[in-house]
Amino acid sequence: MKLNRRKFIEKTAAMGAVSMIAPSILPAATELPKRVKVGIIGCGSVSTQYLPHISKSPFVELISACDIVPERAQMAAKQYNIPNWYPHIDKMLAGPKPDLLLNLTDMQEHGRLNKIALNAGINVWSEKPMANTYAEGKALLDLAKAKGLKIWGAPAVVQSPQFAFMAEQIKEGKLGRVAAAHAHYGHLGPDWSAFFYEKGGGSLPDLGVYNLATLTGLLGPAKFVTAMTSIVTPNRKTNNKGDVKVEAEDNAVVLMDHGKGIISSVQCGFNYFDPYGHEGKGQEKPTISIWGSGGNMHLIGYDWAPFGVDMATRENNEKTIRHLSDPGKYVWQMGATVIAEHMATGENAPLIRPEHALHVLEVIEAARTASLVGKRIKINSTFQYPLI
Ligand SMILES: NC(=O)c1ccc[n+]([C@@H]2O[C@H](COP(=O)([O-])OP(=O)(O)OC[C@H]3O[C@@H](n4cnc5c(N)ncnc54)[C@H](O)[C@@H]3O)[C@@H](O)[C@H]2O)c1
Repeated sequence: MKLNRRKFIEKTAAMGAVSMIAPSILPAATELPKRVKVGIIGCGSVSTQYLPHISKSPFVELISACDIVPERAQMAAKQYNIPNWYPHIDKMLAGPKPDLLLNLTDMQEHGRLNKIALNAGINVWSEKPMANTYAEGKALLDLAKAKGLKIWGAPAVVQSPQFAFMAEQIKEGKLGRVAAAHAHYGHLGPDWSAFFYEKGGGSLPDLGVYNLATLTGLLGPAKFVTAMTSIVTPNRKTNNKGDVKVEAEDNAVVLMDHGKGIISSVQCGFNYFDPYGHEGKGQEKPTISIWGSGGNMHLIGYDWAPFGVDMATRENNEKTIRHLSDPGKYVWQMGATVIAEHMATGENAPLIRPEHALHVLEVIEAARTASLVGKRIKINSTFQYPLI
């Protein structure tokens, strides 16, 4: 499909972006935006959130869909007008080559498939985690660099305006000397796929990962980690495999030492009563709180669906003020769209960085080790901080 000027305007308007684009910088008929060829592997639950968003991007051409349950790839292809669909990555790679592969498969498959894509010369956006272990993830990043390619990993929480606001307040010293923070996220656990409960799954890489990315993004890389993890529900009923034994933690509390005396905790799990579902609508209580000597700050709603930031500072007579209650354009499913747009234009460099995703993966591994051996574990990885 060729994108003409009218279609470009329609598409950007559909994304709500037109007010941000001055008419003078809209491309003339002869200079249409470069489009990144995108392939998608894993056409399950999360793809139904990604596809409606990325398919509207004027910087994206969806060229292929793949799933080992071929009907899912076929259905995605039909619904989003994707010309090619495949039952296996090898078949996909034998077809037209994507510039960017979105890996939305089971967590345990990410590392293996990401490596195949990089070796085939394709950039990668991976759902979390980027790999099964930090070492595997680091090797992927090294491979990407050696090949002149890029790899990025979800989540996209650092792209929200609320994250930017909180980061700025901390940087400007509005909270005084920051001391402590707490974050939580949980629900009753997915029932559609067993991989969430099998080895390599777990509530830390599925849910805790958001809060860990936000708090390390705001307070700096973790230097040490300790944790307790447990399994509260030993067996689960799942749609694809029936009854399964739960092997990965479904309950976790993680403590991070960010240096300079700053300590934070993150709790997550698959046993939390949570009426707010997958859109987070109605969750209007703080899920992330940060305390300092001169103020405190609370993110309202989840970090992946934030609705505002409540802040009270000594400077402001300790009165709590709600900031940024307008959710704006940010949605958690936008990570791959933002990356594709950056690849196409070279502009709007995303704050999502692979080193940050890998750091969070090291924290998750360290939390599991800490729980097992009853120690605090040194974290060796780091990332460019502050992000903003
Ligand atoms: N479901 C959500 O709302 C949600 C939200 C955010 C992130 N995620 C993340 O997205 C990823 C996928 O989760 P999901 O809920 O979509 O799971 P899912 O089980 O619904 O979908 C995964 C799909 O990948 C396919 N698949 C597995 N191995 C494959 C392979 N080797 N080649 C091709 N296809 C393969 C499966 O057949 C399935 O259709 C996970 O990392 C999860 O943490 C999910």
